[in-house]
Amino acid sequence: MKLDGASIIQLSKNYDRRGNLSVVEEVKNVPFKIKRAYWIYDVPGGEVRGGHAYLQNQEFIVALSGSFDVILDSGNERKTYSLNRSYYGLYVPKGIWRQMENFSTNSLALILASIPFDPGDYIYDYALFKEMSE
Ligand code: TYD
Repeated sequence: MKLDGASIIQLSKNYDRRGNLSVVEEVKNVPFKIKRAYWIYDVPGGEVRGGHAYLQNQEFIVALSGSFDVILDSGNERKTYSLNRSYYGLYVPKGIWRQMENFSTNSLALILASIPFDPGDYIYDYALFKEMSE
């Protein structure tokens, strides 16, 4: 499998002297219906999040504040995406191994997900993931 399905999606940015506003709508901006939102914050320096793949879940990851890197791995292709703006995000299709690292101080990661939380949807074993992705 290749990383073709993963993409940076630019969101609208409504410039305003009172402050800017960006918006994301399901299906229209992200290619799935949003079933869940969670956020990652207060990440200690040098800490790594993720390190797993999902069988079904698709995600859209936005750096609402600060910056961090998302490393995507399809099994035979690996790419690092640096997120540092609140008006674009990274679409992660199902079946992709992902890791998040290099969180800046006070960074805030918003993740929109296509399915409700399901521990059974996780693949934590990279060797198994490699096997499944062949
Ligand atoms: P986890 O998915 O391991 O986080 P990350 O991939 O960013 O490292 O989740 C961390 C903990 O939070 C784990 O105990 C499960 C729990 N959790 C929920 O209860 N609901 C959720 O929607 C998510 C994403 C995690």
